[in-house]
Amino acid sequence: MASADSLLRQPWRTVHGIPMVCAFAHNWERVDAFQSRPEDIVVATFPKSGTTWVSEIVDLILKGGDPEKCKQEAITNRVPMLEFAAPEMLAGTELLVLMPSPRIIKTHIPAHLLPKSFWEKRCKMVYVARNAKDVAVSFYHFDLMNKLHPHPGTWAEYLEEFMAGRVAYGSWHDHVKGYWERRKEHPILYLFYEDMKEDPRREIGKVAQFLQQDLPAAVLDAITRHTSFEAMRDNPTTNYTSVPADLMDHDISPFMRKGIAGDWKNHFTVAQSEHFDEDYAQKMAGTDLHFRTEL
Ligand code: PPS
Repeated sequence: MASADSLLRQPWRTVHGIPMVCAFAHNWERVDAFQSRPEDIVVATFPKSGTTWVSEIVDLILKGGDPEKCKQEAITNRVPMLEFAAPEMLAGTELLVLMPSPRIIKTHIPAHLLPKSFWEKRCKMVYVARNAKDVAVSFYHFDLMNKLHPHPGTWAEYLEEFMAGRVAYGSWHDHVKGYWERRKEHPILYLFYEDMKEDPRREIGKVAQFLQQDLPAAVLDAITRHTSFEAMRDNPTTNYTSVPADLMDHDISPFMRKGIAGDWKNHFTVAQSEHFDEDYAQKMAGTDLHFRTEL
């Protein structure tokens, strides 16, 4: 792999037709050829949709709701990201082969490009979707602070890129629709960030049931408390402050930024919102997939 400096702020690289983080694109065969195990649990999302939140919830559920067990390691080691690769760090695929089952695997890879092995072994998947406007705002701030991504430019410039699918992992619209369709024939629990904000305890209960974990009410309450935005923001194993500072600069924008539904209203102009809605209506025409943009 190239040196760290040569991978910072590089343009996206194309992998199977979608824009990819330059550092991750290296040796993509390792991802395509990845061998899943039937007991793997995949946490799949378009970036900035609540991946870390649901990863922590799934890990806590498997650990019987004991936060102390989770606090022993950073989330990036407990729930490795399949496609991750960076200089001087183990790639996601390398970390995963070393892990005992059941593994929890994070990925942002769209359904049609997810390694075949996950579909063949019928691995359970928890997909989290978040409304596109809040994702765009969150992703913009993430691109500002994450040096493995190209600089996003101004918000106005970035919004055009997002709508055109010229951001990491491509089109948000295709991503959410892809897993929505696959859930008809594959064990996928499809969650919405806004539902989790509205009633986290209810959504955590759905995850536990999907994973066939019969947990007492008090344990579900404890998981709800431990995975509140404030608790995860203040927890060094979930707030990404353990990632080297030359890769992520939390002074520019913290990974745990606001954690709310509807922040887009603080960033979109009225004209931007109308333009976005028009484009959205075209790209989402014909689907029965609906999002809430505020609570
Ligand atoms: S990543 O980089 O794609 O894995 O990021 P991801 O974890 O998917 O998304 C980060 C956004 O999720 C918010 N977040 C939360 N919201 C509510 N409750 C909890 N517990 C929580 N944990 C993370 C995080 O703040 C990012 O959203 P924004 O809007 O930027 O604040």
